[in-house]
Amino acid sequence: MERQIERRREPEPVQYDRYMEELWLTQKSERDRKASLPHVLKFNDIPWRQAAQCYWKHYVGYLPNERYKQAPFSSMTVSEQMLFRGSKSGKHRHFNEAVLFIVRGEGYEIHDDVKYPFETGDIVSVPTFCVHQHFNAVQETDVQVFFATAAPVCHLLGIMSTEQLEMHPNYKLPEGATPLYGPDGKSVGYKSAEGVEIRFAERNAQLQSAMESRQAARFTGEAKNTYDWYRKTLTEQVDWRSSPSVPHVVKAKNRPWEDTPMGRLKYLSHATVPSGLLLFDVFYQEIPPGGRSGKHRHVAEETHKILDGRGYDVHDGKRWDWEKEDAIFIPANTVHQHFNADPHKPATFLAIQSRTYYYLGHGGIEHMEDASA
Ligand SMILES: [Fe+2]
Ligand SMILES: [Fe+2]
Repeated sequence: MERQIERRREPEPVQYDRYMEELWLTQKSERDRKASLPHVLKFNDIPWRQAAQCYWKHYVGYLPNERYKQAPFSSMTVSEQMLFRGSKSGKHRHFNEAVLFIVRGEGYEIHDDVKYPFETGDIVSVPTFCVHQHFNAVQETDVQVFFATAAPVCHLLGIMSTEQLEMHPNYKLPEGATPLYGPDGKSVGYKSAEGVEIRFAERNAQLQSAMESRQAARFTGEAKNTYDWYRKTLTEQVDWRSSPSVPHVVKAKNRPWEDTPMGRLKYLSHATVPSGLLLFDVFYQEIPPGGRSGKHRHVAEETHKILDGRGYDVHDGKRWDWEKEDAIFIPANTVHQHFNADPHKPATFLAIQSRTYYYLGHGGIEHMEDASA
């Protein structure tokens, strides 16, 4: 008996698990980093850059290390895009869902060979894995787009991938790069000045085969057991995202304004508004001259594009001034309220809120104060 008690005391020395300590330090450094970032980014402070799709500027970019880099955001990329008059974007598809708000201009989308026209104020929904290309239909004006994607969510889930099918017509290779061509003479990528081969086509093959096998694995008939339910779900989701009956453009003029405790809102994307979007809610808000919105908090991150007017937000007690063209970033779990500083003119913005949080059990709004004029 005495011997057994001795043995139980044996596991020495104890290996200390530093997991909680490291987690605490990581969370603290993330909180400090987030707290140091601006909640308002000025349109003219971020440069336009040329990419495979078109010219754009990133507030929150696509690479995993761009999380909490320029803005306190983690769940979505936020960018602006410019389509020159009479021009078009690159043609491509990706796993990440995207929502495009047409700040100004007129044009159309081609999504999986179907044409969808858009105009100023509309939103375009790009469902996951839909082949898409944006076109500026007129010669007089450029098309400016404010857009968000769920790329960071796809990074986290291990399915971040883009298949580039065509570069935009004004695409120029990076300095010192030489083009690479496939056996059919089509451009497949380039060799950088440093000698690194960037091959878009290699990614095409991997994605193409995955999606082709998904189309081929069609399930018809009734699900007779739980396993069949999953087979049927795959077919239903492939059909859903490629069906032209799912609206890919939501027209602003067809959506109603609502008077709510938060103020005057017009929802373009919401769980009850049919569109190709699953991961984003989108709405307009108008604040009357000298008025203020309601005050609330939600777990979801929310970005605004200021369309008209000037004013300020209060986020967790801190004031952030804004004016037309600015982009606002409301981090997760932040108490916020919007104020119109102009006593004569209304202020309007477009809001994009991540719906991913809703699926994680962190949806809904905690309302704290009603809007007032
Ligand atoms: Fe895209
Ligand atoms: Fe909000």
